[in-house]
Amino acid sequence: MSSTAHNSAPGSAADAPSLDQYGGPAGLYGGKPGRRVTVRDIALAKERGEKWPMVTAYDAMTARVFDEAGIPVLLVGDSAAMVVFGYDSTLPVTVDDLISLTAAVVRGSSRALVVADLPFGSYQASTQQALETAARFMKVAGAHAVKLEGGRRVLPQVEALVSAGVPVMAHLGLTPQSVNVFGGYRVQGRGQSGEELVADAKDLERAGAFAIVLECVPTDLAERVTTSVSIPTIGIGAGGSTDAQVLVWQDLMGLTRTPAKFVKKYADLASDMDRAVRTFAHEVASGTFPGPEHTYN
Ligand code: KIV
Repeated sequence: MSSTAHNSAPGSAADAPSLDQYGGPAGLYGGKPGRRVTVRDIALAKERGEKWPMVTAYDAMTARVFDEAGIPVLLVGDSAAMVVFGYDSTLPVTVDDLISLTAAVVRGSSRALVVADLPFGSYQASTQQALETAARFMKVAGAHAVKLEGGRRVLPQVEALVSAGVPVMAHLGLTPQSVNVFGGYRVQGRGQSGEELVADAKDLERAGAFAIVLECVPTDLAERVTTSVSIPTIGIGAGGSTDAQVLVWQDLMGLTRTPAKFVKKYADLASDMDRAVRTFAHEVASGTFPGPEHTYN
């Protein structure tokens, strides 16, 4: 994230910068509500050299909070496998699982562009499979775009989706659906594989992708990719040169027990929730909740 005021210590909504401070209708982050952000707005933000935030969302209530805070793009990530469903990788989550979550995020938001992750095994087999899966996300869940992982090996899918009218966000570097090939969650793109990653990014742009997530890559490589393509790069563990930054919301809010090095904690929800639920339990046990103000006569 860039070092602007809104990234300082956590505070109340009243302490947060007002939306207008970030540029009214033309600004991607915090622009005036009224219509959904589009992929064209995102392209124009890169032309203006404007940095912007993306966060994950998996339900209607958190989507509403992030949407009202002016977050322009919400990602229904397959990280839901881990943070919602409790699996130890992203592989087990299904299209049906993510369709329900995506529909909830669309219903909970009115301004953000909602991007749905295509889960493992739902697009790699063929362009036909990718089209069928993406069509379900757009028709049933109301997603505005999809994200898929990989470089040259998924170019036919990207081309087919874009020509069918589906905006595609690409994802390079540490692509978690390939964790078993990588042999763990480790930094990608060092040495010769960095050259391949730059070539992948250029190919994805040519194939029509509207943005590229760069996950866990060295900062200088992310900077090279960002200046080599005209579509925005969205970094996670990729340093400060990318056009946008994304974090999984449970990481940035302090719910994750052992977050990665690239995570900055902007709140401590785990402590707040622990304190709140213990107080509730204590008041129930001691008979002080419910009080008269919470009781019907
Ligand atoms: O699934 C996810 O949340 C993601 C982001 C980390 C980019 O792919």
